[in-house]
Amino acid sequence: YPLEHQRMIDAHELLGKLYHHLLLNTKEGAGALDYLLSRGFTTEGIRKFKIGYSLPEWDMAVKYLTKRGFMEEELENAGLIIKRESNDGFFDRFRNRIMFPLLDSKGRVIAFSARSLDSEDSPKYLNTPETPIFNKSSLLYNYNGARSEIRRQGYAVLFEGFADVISADQANVKNGVAVMGTSFTKEHIQMLRRLTDTIILCFDSDQAGIEASNRAGSLLVDQGLEVKAAMLPKGLDPDDYIRKYGPEKFRTDVVGNALVWTAFKLHYYRFGKNLQNEGDKLKYIEEVMNELSKLTNPIERDLYTRQIAEEFSLSLEVLESQQKKLVQAEG
Ligand code: CTP
Ligand code: MN
Ligand code: MN
Ligand code: MN
Ligand code: MN
Repeated sequence: YPLEHQRMIDAHELLGKLYHHLLLNTKEGAGALDYLLSRGFTTEGIRKFKIGYSLPEWDMAVKYLTKRGFMEEELENAGLIIKRESNDGFFDRFRNRIMFPLLDSKGRVIAFSARSLDSEDSPKYLNTPETPIFNKSSLLYNYNGARSEIRRQGYAVLFEGFADVISADQANVKNGVAVMGTSFTKEHIQMLRRLTDTIILCFDSDQAGIEASNRAGSLLVDQGLEVKAAMLPKGLDPDDYIRKYGPEKFRTDVVGNALVWTAFKLHYYRFGKNLQNEGDKLKYIEEVMNELSKLTNPIERDLYTRQIAEEFSLSLEVLESQQKKLVQAEG
C-alpha cells in the first residue's frame, strides 16, 4: 500500500479507538451507550464490532489527529474532516453520532458509518464518502469477521443493514454480512463466491426490502449461486424480529425456514396484490407461469404448476399448454 493510504488507515484506526473509548468509558458517551443497550446491543457486541461515539464538538477529530502528526489535507482526503466554506480551517464530519467502523477485507478501519441518536438529526446514517481507501460498492459489512463462519457453515446470510448483522451475530448467526446502503453488485458476488456458493437473503420485510431481495437474488442466480430468502412478518427487519421474538426463533423459523428461490418468486409476485381481485389474480397467475416456464428442473416446475392449479381451481392441462407456449416463445 502506498504510504498515503497507510496513513489514512492509521488515522481511522486511531480515531476509531478514541470513539470506542468515549462510548464505553466516559460520561459524555453515557447517553449513546444507553441508547445502544436499550435497543438490544450487548457490551460484548459493542466490543466485537468496535462501536463508538463521536462528541458533539466541531473539532475533536481535527485536534486529536493533527496533534498526532496528521496533516489537515490528508484527513480531508480520508473523508474525516471538511473544509470550512470561509476557507479558514476544518471541522469534523462526524459529530454526536454512534460510530460504526467499516473494515476492509484485512480487518483495517477504512471508513465509518455514523448513526444519529435522534430522528430530528438526519440523515439517519451518515457515511464516509468515496475516498482513495474506501469504495462503498465493494464493501461488505462484517466480511472480515464472518469469513471463517461462512466457510464453516457453507452459506452466508445477506442483510440490508448492519444493525441486522450485529443483532444476528448476538443471536449466534455469525455468518452475516450487509451492503452499505447501496445496491448489491457483481463485486459483492465475487467476494462472497470466494467463500461459498449459497446465500440466504434476509432483508427488511417492506416494499423496498422485497424489491431489493428480488434484485440481489436474481443477480446471484444469474451468476450461478444458490439463493434462498428468509421471510419476516411484514414491517419488521431482522433486528426488530430478534428483539421481538428472540434469537432461537430467528435461527429456526427465519433463517432455518428460508424459501428456495422459486418459492420466493411466488411470494414476491403476491406482495402488494389482492388476490381476491380478478385483475390482480390474473396478473399473478401470468407472472408465475412466466417464472415457472424458466425452470430447468421438470419436477420443480410440475410441483409449483400443480400448486397454482389447485389454489386457483384451474385445470392442469390449461396451465401446461400455456407453459409450453411460453417455453417456445423463449426459444
Ligand atoms: N442507510 C444509509 N443511509 C440512510 C439510511 C440507510 O446508508 N439514511 C443504509 C445503512 O447502511 C442501513 C441500511 O441502509 O444499515 C438499511 O436502512 P434501514 O433499514 O433504514 O436501517 P436499519 O439498518 O434498520 O437501521 P436502524 O435499525 O438503526 O434504524
Ligand atoms: Mn430498510
Ligand atoms: Mn413478506
Ligand atoms: Mn432496517
Ligand atoms: Mn433496523
